[in-house]
Amino acid sequence: MTNPVLTQATGTVRWSKRMDDVGAIGDFIEGRPALVHLRGREVAIVKWNGEIYAVAARCPHMNALLSAGMVGPRLDGGCKVGEISVASEVPLLACPWHGWQFDLRTGTSRWDSTCRIRTYRTAREGQRVKVSLSLE
Ligand code: FES
Repeated sequence: MTNPVLTQATGTVRWSKRMDDVGAIGDFIEGRPALVHLRGREVAIVKWNGEIYAVAARCPHMNALLSAGMVGPRLDGGCKVGEISVASEVPLLACPWHGWQFDLRTGTSRWDSTCRIRTYRTAREGQRVKVSLSLE
């Protein structure tokens, strides 16, 4: 689990907002997921269109490693020529085993909104990439 902090006065557990350094921005290749191990968790980091995304690296279907998957834009449209549009602002991560696709911004499955992967907050500090495992 992440870094729980027990509050003595109330006995409640809150979660640390700590950001962990996962590497330099130059360590990540555009559109190619990278696997990092962060405090016991497997996290897939993806650089896409100037943004950095971090998601849980295991597929909810059959536990495949999503960092071995492919990233691409969402394609919309029909089956006829010219009906397809590219939504490059919507990065999708496709599972390498059976192709389930997840929106890296929200973690939701493209085909089933009740199925999702955990997303993590990211930030850049200079040339460094930071990830928070916090639930907040
Ligand atoms: S294990 Fe990911 S889609 Fe089947």
